[in-house]
Amino acid sequence: LKVDASSQLARKIPDTLFGMFFEEINHAGAGGIWAELVSNRGFEAGGLHTPSNIDPWSIIGDDSSVFVATDRTSCFSRNIIALRMEVLCDDCAAGGVGIYNPGFWGMNIEDGKTYNLVMYVKSAEAAELTVSLASSDGSQKLASVTVPVDGTSNWTKVEQKLIAKGTNRTSRLQITSNKKGVVWFDQVSLMPLDTFKGHGFRKELISMLLDLKPRFLRFPGGCFVEGEWLRNAFRWRESIGPWEERPGHFGDVWHYWTDDGLGYYEFLQLSEDLGAAPIWVFNNGISHNDEVSTAAIAPFVKDVLDSLEFARGDANSTWGSVRAAMGHPEPFPVKYVAIGNEDCGKKYYLSNYLKFYNAIREAYPDIQMISNCDGSSKPLDHPADLYDFHVYTDSKTLFNMKGTFDRTYRTGPKAFVSEYAVWRSDAGRGSLLASLAEAAFLTGLEKNSDIVQMASYAPLFVNDNDQTWNPDAIVFNSWQQYGTPSYWMQKFFRESSGAMIHPATISSSYSSSLAASAITWQDSGSSFLRVKIVNFGSDTVSLTISATGLQASINALGSNTTVLTSSNVMDENSFSNPNKVVPVTSQLRNAAEQMQVTLPAHSFSSFDLALA
Ligand code: AHR
Repeated sequence: LKVDASSQLARKIPDTLFGMFFEEINHAGAGGIWAELVSNRGFEAGGLHTPSNIDPWSIIGDDSSVFVATDRTSCFSRNIIALRMEVLCDDCAAGGVGIYNPGFWGMNIEDGKTYNLVMYVKSAEAAELTVSLASSDGSQKLASVTVPVDGTSNWTKVEQKLIAKGTNRTSRLQITSNKKGVVWFDQVSLMPLDTFKGHGFRKELISMLLDLKPRFLRFPGGCFVEGEWLRNAFRWRESIGPWEERPGHFGDVWHYWTDDGLGYYEFLQLSEDLGAAPIWVFNNGISHNDEVSTAAIAPFVKDVLDSLEFARGDANSTWGSVRAAMGHPEPFPVKYVAIGNEDCGKKYYLSNYLKFYNAIREAYPDIQMISNCDGSSKPLDHPADLYDFHVYTDSKTLFNMKGTFDRTYRTGPKAFVSEYAVWRSDAGRGSLLASLAEAAFLTGLEKNSDIVQMASYAPLFVNDNDQTWNPDAIVFNSWQQYGTPSYWMQKFFRESSGAMIHPATISSSYSSSLAASAITWQDSGSSFLRVKIVNFGSDTVSLTISATGLQASINALGSNTTVLTSSNVMDENSFSNPNKVVPVTSQLRNAAEQMQVTLPAHSFSSFDLALA
């Protein structure tokens, strides 16, 4: 494998090449990175209708001791449903009767940790409630507080801290009373005090993202942006402002309710916290089953301009002031927007697209716009800065797609490979095989990064209790998480954004099952050469790597090799064995301009040479 590291043939990889695509799918957000523990906290899951859907709330007691029903008496006009609880017993069973919420397949309550409870209550007569964190059957109490209700018939905001005295991974929040009477509840929230930067995200999941050094964050979908029907599409306006006043919505593509605590503002905040450029994918008036005609699209265009003012406007602007009131007076630097998701070819796509494009270009000339139409196989017939390219296929096909952009147009919009993954037959639930094909595909993107400006794996997260889409990069439940091989594979590319790419050519009888790339980069004043090689075949391969044109000599002491492999190509990680397929790093003792390396069968190796 020959690497020409001379500066003449080097090219800078875009700073944005590798980033992330976050979609609200598989309970990635609600019941995922968003740390809210209560599911359906406003009892709004059935929409504005009564009786509404209060799932997963349930009663403690029986029909003779407690009766619950929803009505439209909330103090919040945008989410008007409240829960009316009537306690029928005066001398109720020990522990009282009431309601409980198991969260998203059980709440992870940990010993010594503090949980913030907020809820709104009202009652016509004075009452006393007990709010507790308990095991799933209620038998073990981990924390408990008493909440007096004043009996004025006015809605009152209750705020309490609960400190857990014990750990239980499948806990529930329960609210009970011992006395006959009627109490109304709304917007019941329980959040751990300890979240990432205090911004409401689960720390351990975010640290897995940080570890990949993402340069952009595309959000919030995917099909989630479109909806099966427009009425169920993500609407940024409904997802900002005080959380208590957000109506929430049913994501009908992935079939679950979200309270929208993780809304447009929080996505922007997350991008900032990750050091990633935000990429806002907005609904363009098109869902899977219905479309707004171009004649009627003007209010949707205005809505998107408002969303950009919310992000970028100064704190005195109409929407910038709403952002400032939420705690972020400085603008969020939105420089990229995608006009819809996977909608190219739909009846009104192009004509709607042009309305959005022209309005945004005029108001924000620096914003780069992403078309849903693939410009890799034929030039686009409309203006765009980037075009979306999505690929989900089997491993052999993706491996062979590493040359996809070798011969594509070099002028015109850049490619944004905003969703790629091996799926179906040979993906397992995230196999080594899938990750190897993906790695090979990414080496092709690095080489073609004069035209490919960005790339992100999809989907990023799955809550193990709701795997609608398989496979995914990070698997979690209420308290555990692990990366699939596809997650770990991405770690090999985290230094690539902004690095220099060099020609790497392989001559070997195994060439057809190998893929390689070479980069140099600098970190804290030190320089490195990284040669990455995928061995997609079932034979061990020996190669000589010879590097010419290096700007400095090689320091073997600081040089390493990292390999991702396993005894079986279909091996996966799991909660019980999260580190079965993970990269293993060791010192590269023979680091030199010419060195012999061995590539295990079905492996992805990187050779990192420190340059003195
Ligand atoms: O990543 C899962 C889905 O795949 C996305 O929602 C959609 O854009 C694509 O079809």
